[in-house]
Amino acid sequence: MTFAPGKIILTGEHSVVYGKPAIALAINRGIETIATRFEGPSYCTSPIVDEHLWKAIRTIVPENGFTISFTSSLPIGKGMGSSAALSVSLCREMARIQSQSLSFEGLLDQAMTMETFFHGRPSGLDHTVSALGKAVLFQRTTTGTEWKPIDFPAIDILIVDSGTTGSTSDMVAKVALHADTAKFQSILVKMETLSMKIRKAIAMKDFKRIGQLCTQNHQYLKQLGVSTTTINDIVDSALALGAWGAKLSGSGGGGIVIILGDNLSLLKEYFVENGYDAFITRSFSPTD
Ligand code: PMV
Repeated sequence: MTFAPGKIILTGEHSVVYGKPAIALAINRGIETIATRFEGPSYCTSPIVDEHLWKAIRTIVPENGFTISFTSSLPIGKGMGSSAALSVSLCREMARIQSQSLSFEGLLDQAMTMETFFHGRPSGLDHTVSALGKAVLFQRTTTGTEWKPIDFPAIDILIVDSGTTGSTSDMVAKVALHADTAKFQSILVKMETLSMKIRKAIAMKDFKRIGQLCTQNHQYLKQLGVSTTTINDIVDSALALGAWGAKLSGSGGGGIVIILGDNLSLLKEYFVENGYDAFITRSFSPTD
């Protein structure tokens, strides 16, 4: 059995596609993969796997000889890195069962192949943070990607599901429609500055400030047109109830809101009472 974590993005979704820095945290929920040997055509036992997903899985799993099963503690397709966690755990599990050594770079390459199958043109942020299993500062460059693990302690983060799902490739395509405009370019620059401010606040362990900067990031994501009315309502309610900060996390168009604060249990109760799926997750720290 091999586990790979999901993620939340503190800053940089969408702008990362355009070469700006992003910061993501690995979390204590993810996907477990079990591969077993089997005489016959390979198949998958998990209901979450449809035909498209199976085609992606088959880029890693040989035609014959294996059964594959997945268990997820992540909501699927909600911006928590479920496809990346599935890719990373599958690649590691297949290497394990076939007694193949898999370098970290090899893992990133294999997971990127699967992620490209899922999302078209992913930045690579999701599977890099899942493979590392800790917080990362990530940037796309003209020649590839650059990433650096970040020291980030284990903290609680409240997740509220907006109840709808956005497609990553659709949302990335939607943003791309405006990529040539001056407004878009100015938002990109602001998002880059914000990522650097969050990097500094992390170094200072100033979580209140990180929360405030996350809220600012949410305003930029709104301006990019990737938020929804429900997501904005969740963010506003969280702030009104005393959260340090809140933002959508992932590609948007639906999916989840992340909330930072020191009264997360009370906030969770509020959202559950109001009909939302809400749960508290925890970031992985390098010392875990
Ligand atoms: O797959 P999601 O919903 O977590 O979005 C990933 C972040 C994007 O910047 C929107 C896309 C990407 O490839 O980085």
